[in-house]
Amino acid sequence: MSNVLILGAGGQIARVAIDLFLQRTDARLTLYLRNARRLGKVDPARARVVEGDVLDAERLTEAMVGQEVVYANLAGSLEKQARNIVKAMDATGLKRLIWISSMGIHDEVPGEKYGSILDPYRKSAELIEASDLDYVILRPAWLNDKDEIDYETTPKGEPFRGSVVSRKSVADLVVKLAVSPKWEARRSLGVNQPVRRS
Ligand SMILES: NC(=O)c1ccc[n+]([C@@H]2O[C@H](COP(=O)([O-])OP(=O)(O)OC[C@H]3O[C@@H](n4cnc5c(N)ncnc54)[C@H](OP(=O)(O)O)[C@@H]3O)[C@@H](O)[C@H]2O)c1
Repeated sequence: MSNVLILGAGGQIARVAIDLFLQRTDARLTLYLRNARRLGKVDPARARVVEGDVLDAERLTEAMVGQEVVYANLAGSLEKQARNIVKAMDATGLKRLIWISSMGIHDEVPGEKYGSILDPYRKSAELIEASDLDYVILRPAWLNDKDEIDYETTPKGEPFRGSVVSRKSVADLVVKLAVSPKWEARRSLGVNQPVRRS
């Protein structure tokens, strides 16, 4: 049994991941988000809802007490968010961080250059890599909402493969990483649907 804190719990991948956590694990979830109305009904026996902004350092640190895994599914001011999260995890002695980023931050997608639009994703990933956390940074391809789990991963330093992946696939990987706290630690993984040529 583990205690998992989900930051940005109303986000689209996060909502799929919450369903998978509830179906497949006995993890106790803390759902941290700016507006609790973005969530449907939550079973209080399995999940606690905390309304808060990741940029609110005090509230964030409070929410980390007693957790084992932090899964951050965020957008926006990612650099500031990452800084707050690393600091709060250090302060509370937490090690495992699963961080959703994006493909393209290392110019690893053959034939593509995404430029400054990915700067927040790049800078936040650098900050996390400079920490001593057991982080896993996930770099998903273009996301879709297909009801399928079908993915492969590529390590940092290898060219990205494919161009799309379902949110459900990313959520599947998040749950697996959360229940195996050392698996793929300190790695950055591209996540894509395998390209099948007929
Ligand atoms: N679209 C793509 O194809 C693609 C591909 C690769 C990666 N990505 C990236 O992957 C990430 C996750 O994807 P997704 O589809 O799950 O994104 P999403 O639905 O936009 O979820 C992001 C969540 O972050 C929350 N958030 C933002 N700032 C916050 C703060 N200061 N404190 C607390 N929560 C905050 C938002 O909450 P509010 O509801 O309060 O705004 C939102 O629920 C995003 O960064 C996305 O850009 C996207």
